[in-house]
Amino acid sequence: MSAEAAGALLQARGLSVRYGGVVANDDITLDVGAGEIVGLIGPNGAGKTTFVDAVTGFTKSTGEVTMGGVRIDGYSPHRRRGTGMARTWQAGELFADLTVAENLAVAVQKPGLKALFADIFTGSKPPVKTIDEALTMVGLTDAADRHPSELALGQQKLVGVARALVGGTKMVLLDEPAAGLDTHESRDFGNELRRIAATGIGVLLIDHDMSLVLDVCHRLYVLDFGKVIAAGAPQEIRDDPRVVSAYLGSAEVEAEVDIDADGGPAASPLLQKGTAQ
Ligand SMILES: Nc1ncnc2c1ncn2[C@@H]1O[C@H](COP(=O)(O)OP(=O)(O)O)[C@@H](O)[C@H]1O
Ligand SMILES: [Mg+2]
Repeated sequence: MSAEAAGALLQARGLSVRYGGVVANDDITLDVGAGEIVGLIGPNGAGKTTFVDAVTGFTKSTGEVTMGGVRIDGYSPHRRRGTGMARTWQAGELFADLTVAENLAVAVQKPGLKALFADIFTGSKPPVKTIDEALTMVGLTDAADRHPSELALGQQKLVGVARALVGGTKMVLLDEPAAGLDTHESRDFGNELRRIAATGIGVLLIDHDMSLVLDVCHRLYVLDFGKVIAAGAPQEIRDDPRVVSAYLGSAEVEAEVDIDADGGPAASPLLQKGTAQ
C-alpha cells in the first residue's frame, strides 16, 4: 500500500535546509506510511542526516512537516518527540556501563530539573513495561540485564533501535543503524525491521548497505546534493541510471548499467557497491 493510500504518518513537503552557502536539503517531499519501511539513500554528503535533523527539529528548515496530519514544523524537538516520532543518531553509541534495559531507560528520562525533583519525591522508576515492550519488538527481552559488550554486534544495533521505540513511538528515523554489520548480520537486522514495521510503526531507513535497503524497503528515495533525484520501488531504483551515476559519480557508468542490467539484478553496480562497504 502506498503512503498516499494509507494516509501518510509522516509527510515532509518542500523541506529545505541551508547551511551558509550549502543547500543541504533542497525542496524535499517525502512520505512514510504506518507500517511502511521507506529507504533514504544517497552518497555521503547528500543530505540524509540533515533531513532527519530537519524533520525531528534539530536543525532549522523551511517547508512543512506533518505527523498524522498535524503540522509540527513549528514544534521543538521535544514536542515533536511527543507526537510519536523518534530518531537514532548516526554512530549512536550505547552506554557500555549500563545494562540494555538501563540504556533504554535513559532514553525515556524526562529532561530537566522538574523531572529530577519528581523522581526524587515520587521515587519514580524507569517504566519497566514500556522498556519491555520495546525489547520485545526487537526480540531482545532476554538481554535486558546484560551489558552491550556481552551482545553480538547485530544485537547491539537492535538495542539502538529499541531505544528509539520506547514510549509509544509511531515513527522511527534510523540514521545508518546497521553500519558495520556483515551481510549475514545485516539480513537478520532487516528481518527485525520488518517485524517492527508489521506492528504498524513507520520506518525511515538510511543505510549504505544496498542489499539491506533494496531487500527490506517498500519504497526508496534517492538524494543527491540535497535533492530527491529518484523515488519508487526498490526494483525501479536499482535500475535507474541517474541513481547509479549519482552513486558512482561517473557518466560512463550509465553505459555499464545497461550492460549489467542484462546480467540480472545481482550484477547491479549499486548492489556491488553496497556489499563492498
Ligand atoms: N551543521 C552543519 N553545518 C554546516 N554544514 C552542514 C552541517 N551538517 C551538514 N552540513 C553539510 O550539509 C551537507 C549534507 O550533509 P549530511 O546531511 O550530513 O549528509 P549525509 O548524511 O547524506 O552524508 C554536506 O555538505 C555537509 O557538509
Ligand atoms: Mg549522514
